[in-house]
Amino acid sequence: MIEEAAKLLARSRFAIAFTGAGISAESGVPTFRGFNGLWKKYRPEELATPEAFWKNPRLVWEFYMWRMNLIRKAKPNDAHYALAELERMGILKAVITQNVDDLHREAGTKNLIELHGNIFRVKCTSCSYREYLKESGRVDEFLQEKDVPKCPNCGSLLRPDVVWFGEALPEDTLDKAFRLAERAQVCIVIGTSGIVYPAAYIPQIVKERGGTIIEINVEKSGITPIADIFLRGKAGEVMDKIVRLIK
Ligand code: APR
Ligand code: ZN
Repeated sequence: MIEEAAKLLARSRFAIAFTGAGISAESGVPTFRGFNGLWKKYRPEELATPEAFWKNPRLVWEFYMWRMNLIRKAKPNDAHYALAELERMGILKAVITQNVDDLHREAGTKNLIELHGNIFRVKCTSCSYREYLKESGRVDEFLQEKDVPKCPNCGSLLRPDVVWFGEALPEDTLDKAFRLAERAQVCIVIGTSGIVYPAAYIPQIVKERGGTIIEINVEKSGITPIADIFLRGKAGEVMDKIVRLIK
């Protein structure tokens, strides 16, 4: 099975990856659903919706600061590095991720599409101010701040530049992702429950256009019914083997 997956990838002319929280599990970043998932302990409607933010910005910011602090200590794992390597080898054309943790970028992936935003990016709720905290070097300062963060430009509330439940994905980002999916001969789907839309359309589009789906997950997901090859296992271990086989 894994040999077949490696062969398919090596021979493909246009492969993409579609990733979810499970790819970062081995880096110590909590997933949302399943064992120890965040949405088992917390209610998404109280922490990850625009309504929740306007009702209680402090609580929502506490949740995001807590996650930002966890994530900034996390390092990419073998799965993130394997995808970056496949891109350097010319096999992988893009990584489309639902993750906000920035670990694909840290691992060296260049063509990265972040469907749900990035936890290190913030934006103003009134004006066009945006800031990438890693670039401005303000992550520490931000996490030490006791008050709810305000826009340095206009003084309104800042918010995380992530997509909350009930919000639309940025149109250009989604468009780009769909266009890549239409062209893909192979799509490696890694560590996603595959039930959050429109993101979960990505592998479906690949499949409809005649592409092949290789799935890596520790358990079956919403994508498994359309997967041509299902590799059960941890993302880091399986991806490391695949890259070794290709080399
Ligand atoms: N290797 C591979 N897969 C794993 C691993 C691992 N080490 N650990 C967990 N998984 C799998 C789980 O079996 C599950 O299918 O990762 C998946 C994680 O699913 P979710 O927690 O639902 O994460 P995701 O699919 O990314 O969620 C989609 O939902 O809450 C929103 O916006 C949030 O982007 C997120 C979206
Ligand atoms: Zn502003």
